[in-house]
Amino acid sequence: MIHKGLDNVYVKESRICFIDGEASKLFYRGYSIDDLAAHSTFEETAYLLIFGRLPTSAQLREFVKKIESYRTLDPRLLRLIASFPASCDAMDALRTAVSALGLFDPDPTTDRLEVRIDKALQILAKAPTIIAAFDRARNHKESIAPQPGLSHAADFLYMLGGKVPDSYDAYVMDVALILHAEHEMNASTFSCTVAASTLADMYSIITTGIATLRGPLHGGANEAALRTVQEVGDPSNAERYVTQALAEKKRIMGFGHRVYKTWDPRYRIVKAIGADLAAKRGQQKLYDTALAIETSALQHLSGAPIFPNVDSYSGVVFHMLGITTDLFTPIFAMSRIAGWSAHSIEYLESNRLIRPKAYYVGPVGLQYVPIEERST
Ligand code: CMC
Repeated sequence: MIHKGLDNVYVKESRICFIDGEASKLFYRGYSIDDLAAHSTFEETAYLLIFGRLPTSAQLREFVKKIESYRTLDPRLLRLIASFPASCDAMDALRTAVSALGLFDPDPTTDRLEVRIDKALQILAKAPTIIAAFDRARNHKESIAPQPGLSHAADFLYMLGGKVPDSYDAYVMDVALILHAEHEMNASTFSCTVAASTLADMYSIITTGIATLRGPLHGGANEAALRTVQEVGDPSNAERYVTQALAEKKRIMGFGHRVYKTWDPRYRIVKAIGADLAAKRGQQKLYDTALAIETSALQHLSGAPIFPNVDSYSGVVFHMLGITTDLFTPIFAMSRIAGWSAHSIEYLESNRLIRPKAYYVGPVGLQYVPIEERST
């Protein structure tokens, strides 16, 4: 039996995330995504995912303090980031810088789970600083040091734009980080779990996750979905675009999911924020174009279990926050580090090397011919 794509294959028992893909429900550690988006913060959600329970006020205070103290980057890493070509992709920059973080850790490997968790928190804390430093360096701007007292979301926007964001923008970014923090055994979480099963260090594990998230069928879909909306340009063009794309067997970005065979619950939350933000920012045409694409695609795909996913509006929201398109997937990554860490640590609590098999269908016993005697 060959499980191409590993559809419906379970690789472990888990207490981290439950997706009910038929009922449009998502739970982190038993808490619904709607409640977390409405009441939690990214820091509290990250604590929940990594430590398995909601923190008390004292625990959250200590956690936030720790994350704040870990945000600063080694000046050598800042110099390395500043040396990256300005033309390089932001995901490549993040992947390389997170990998390089391991070089500046005098003791990157460890067998102790609590030390692993601490290293995971260091990477989680430093990822926004890396992304912001890269974006500023490629725009010939000095990096901005993290500002203690700001939330993870607000501090990221501050380090990126050089101005403390208003509470609404910080709230939008915070919710976006909560929505992207975890999603069960998706491709990048699986690749992190494979790396963890080899007992690789946390830097290698998270670098693996970033590399896997990069593709357009996974993390890259938010950028592709925004580009589609921009290309379509006006709600009146949506029907023509969707008809033509489907006739050419192209995928509508921000639609479809391996697990959700109905609406992605994150989509509802991000779409509502998009509508609000569009009204506040005078970006109605962008939002209406996304909405027209959605309406048209739903009509054409009706009968197939293909519905909008979180990415149908997340790119639109990030764009309205003034964020450069190629930073969308790095933002997804900086949030998902929480989920990647939680799954890697959970797997290591009862580790077994992940080593599937490939069903060999090629020849055996061929005769080796010296190169000078080969005709073709
Ligand atoms: N637009 C048009 N048709 C689609 C789409 C789409 N977005 N998604 C799936 N289909 C069709 C596909 O062409 C195929 O049709 P047919 O059977 O006639 O060949 C059928 O649905 C099944 O497709 P599949 O590729 O076997 O389904 P999958 O479970 O592997 O797809 C997916 C999951 C996410 C790769 C796919 O839906 C897709 O490519 N979507 C667009 C990219 C996207 O939005 N990705 C973000 C996912 S959510 C964020 C994340 O987790 O990273």
